Amino acid sequence: MKLKELKIGNLTAAIPIIQGGMGIGISLSNLAAAVANEGGIGTISGVQIGFREPDFAANPVEANLRAIGKEIKKAREKTKGIIAMNLMAAMNNYELYVKKAVEEKIDLIISGAGLPLALPKLVEGTSTKIAPIVSSAKAARIIIKSYLKHDRLPDAVVVEGPLAGGHLGFKMDEMLEKKYASLKEIVKEVKELIGNIESEHSIKIPVIAAGGIRTKEDMAELAESGAEGFQIASLFVPTVECDAHENFKLAYVNATDEEEMIIKSPVGMPARAIRTKFLTDSLINGCTVSKCYKCMPNCNPMTIPYCISTGLIDAAEGRDGLIFCGSKLAGINKISTVKEVISKLIND
Ligand SMILES: Cc1cc2nc3c(=O)[nH]c(=O)nc-3n(C[C@H](O)[C@H](O)[C@H](O)COP(=O)(O)O)c2cc1C
Repeated sequence: MKLKELKIGNLTAAIPIIQGGMGIGISLSNLAAAVANEGGIGTISGVQIGFREPDFAANPVEANLRAIGKEIKKAREKTKGIIAMNLMAAMNNYELYVKKAVEEKIDLIISGAGLPLALPKLVEGTSTKIAPIVSSAKAARIIIKSYLKHDRLPDAVVVEGPLAGGHLGFKMDEMLEKKYASLKEIVKEVKELIGNIESEHSIKIPVIAAGGIRTKEDMAELAESGAEGFQIASLFVPTVECDAHENFKLAYVNATDEEEMIIKSPVGMPARAIRTKFLTDSLINGCTVSKCYKCMPNCNPMTIPYCISTGLIDAAEGRDGLIFCGSKLAGINKISTVKEVISKLIND
């Protein structure tokens, strides 16, 4: 299969690969720019992006807004390619963060973990493109119906399947019992829906497949189901350019498939992570949340097994913590470079 370029509105990526946003602090400007320099789309994670700002503990929202500006600027200094920002619709202050990224002229906002219904209003009158993440045709239909009320359509749709990393748009029992549709099946359904919208509105909306993509063959199979782009995250973790601490990258290199776990995240969704001491200890014993960053609505620090922000920040900085991962880690066994990962994907 010859990979075609990926067009999202007036943006053209020479290769149809989007590096998936990885929070907290795993995909920042360095990784995103490296992927964009190879012709793909690099995604900065905007989730708790201010965690290294000196005032983060006291003023997390201000620190995050400042860091959004800084990371976009740093990425622009390193690349002329396409840079996206990933923000989770379930987070507190989501709209403020999206607005800031749009003000900083981000090319594309990719958003899931909840329905990103506010996006059309937040990018109105700007050139920023919007790509909601869905895990079913039903969710895509709800989003499109809502966007049309604003006279807008998504510029692309990311379909995230059950093998993805981080939060998953499936029910806990579906994940534990593996009673879910495959990514290929969901892509096919979403493509059918999008195909109708494309004909009705004479517009092109690429469908991007995500979750467990590891080889060129995986991409070819998904392309047969209608995918025009591929969002890949886990393969970019063990790279020199990834923004995470070395220990985080080594956890990927050393992990076996048996160490993959499905956990209930305090966000209220299932999530896929590597079995770490932090995770087993807190799931068995619980832990005391000493600092609440108020990152999510409906999160009660008294009842959650662990604080998601603290767990993810600790891991990003190399301490024992929460390490999200996509499925099929066994094939990932060395630290390489973004160039090597991409050329293996497109040339193998
Ligand atoms: C470490 C890690 C962190 C992630 N964080 C986020 C996030 O903050 N927001 C989001 O929408 N997706 C997040 N994801 C999902 C990815 O963006 C991507 O869609 C998915 O992992 C693709 O599957 P793959 O990792 O098997 O390639 C994360 C994935 C990983 C591995």
